[in-house]
Amino acid sequence: MASEKELIELATAMLDKAYIPYSQFPVGAALECEDGAVFGGCNIENASYGLTNCAERTAAFKAVSEGHTRFKRIVIAGRCEDYCWPCGACRQVLNEFGGPGLEIICLNGKGEAVHTTLGELLPHAVDAVWLGT
Ligand code: THU
Repeated sequence: MASEKELIELATAMLDKAYIPYSQFPVGAALECEDGAVFGGCNIENASYGLTNCAERTAAFKAVSEGHTRFKRIVIAGRCEDYCWPCGACRQVLNEFGGPGLEIICLNGKGEAVHTTLGELLPHAVDAVWLGT
């Protein structure tokens, strides 16, 4: 199990991996799975703009593609004034593997943290129950 401090350090280190030639807006993520596995992620932009992948989804897809489909918590780092909140698309993707109980820690550029949950940030998520499957 990683400590919160270790996850914060990884998310912050991932800022330097961000591929951001268009926005110059780095985002880093550190995702901890229920089984203890940890994955880092960064945003990866594209000249088409629309094909940009957020840091959170990079980490999520790395985890799932390695067989880790149950998420426990995620730290999201940025260098902005406000806390680095996950975008709507990332909230929905994280819901698939973390559900409303997923712990989310958002950092601002000063390294200050706000703790929340996915259920707080994405009420009424589209999920298998809602689909009736
Ligand atoms: N971005 C993320 O990586 N995560 C988010 O939740 C919000 C936005 C990235 C996408 C783009 O590369 C840059 O931040 C500006 O939107």
